[in-house]
Amino acid sequence: MKTLSLRRPDDWHLHLRDGAVLQAVIGDTSRHFGRAIIMPNLVPPVVTTDDARAYRDRILAAVPQGDRFEPLMTLYLTEHTDPDDVEEGRKSGLIAAVKLYPAGATTNSHGGVRDLDKAMPVLERMAKIGLPLCVHGEVTTPEVDIFDREAVFIEEKLEVIRRRLPELKVTMEHVTTKDGVDYILAADRNLAGTITTHHLIINRNAILVGGIRPHYYCLPVAKREHHRQALRKAATSGDPRFFLGTDSAPHVDPLKECACGCAGIYTSINTMSCLAHVFEEENALERLEAFASLNGPAWYGLAASEEIMVLERQAEPVSYPAKRDTDAGPITVFDPMFPLFWQVR
Ligand code: NCD
Ligand code: ZN
Repeated sequence: MKTLSLRRPDDWHLHLRDGAVLQAVIGDTSRHFGRAIIMPNLVPPVVTTDDARAYRDRILAAVPQGDRFEPLMTLYLTEHTDPDDVEEGRKSGLIAAVKLYPAGATTNSHGGVRDLDKAMPVLERMAKIGLPLCVHGEVTTPEVDIFDREAVFIEEKLEVIRRRLPELKVTMEHVTTKDGVDYILAADRNLAGTITTHHLIINRNAILVGGIRPHYYCLPVAKREHHRQALRKAATSGDPRFFLGTDSAPHVDPLKECACGCAGIYTSINTMSCLAHVFEEENALERLEAFASLNGPAWYGLAASEEIMVLERQAEPVSYPAKRDTDAGPITVFDPMFPLFWQVR
């Protein structure tokens, strides 16, 4: 049997939610991943260090016994975020990054930033203390086509932030376009990008051909095929500027299968199987470790895991649940639309 050993992976962009959903989904991450950057877009959002501490405690209380899992907390940047609170959170070791959601860009982002000038004092402090900014890189201007929002964000917002604060470390989250990949490749320092599992597998046809398929709808929305190809090339290149952020984003089925469905794809369960499949297709299995286990910690100034994960290639397709049941309702698991053969031992 073919096997693949790698350091235990981490997930550098994850939504765990709270309450019943947190209880149901946390094990799907903690079973495979040692750490994860936890997104702060709860209702209400995680805006202060105290909020983050309380949320981390709820997450840790939900981790199944026997799993070793470290949540890396983030703060939701608002126009009123206090630079001192951010610095204290960082110094106490609790806060790993601050998240910028342009107001209205995605799920629970109405409290995000409208006027970047108002967030400048916090960003300046972050540049000074070396705290990374995680960016949801899409403009929200209604005139801009949804498929162009990432490219326009880079030009109109990200480039401005980086020119004003060249010392600020910026993680461009869930890159979905060749424009994003090229922009990261052109930067010699202080810029990196996460790539999701699903954006390596689907293009926009998955959402729209043969009927509207809400379980392939996420934000940033999947783009054209040549963008997916650029993401695959970047992810499998071994380049330290690219690493895994699943953006696994659970929503219960009734909230996705309706007239105005939520954005988000739930991939925590089968991400490692999907990634091994993709990297094998790209003849890059030996670089899966860089993408999933090495590049992320290096960027965040942490050591790679000392633990080893072994993946085995089975002769028959492996099975995984189609739904994750929760007390709030079922959550549909990402279907890559091809059989998976790689299984975590
Ligand atoms: C995320 C969510 O549901 O919180 N949804 C998504 O489609 N990725 C928000 C986000 O990361 O944009
Ligand atoms: Zn996300």
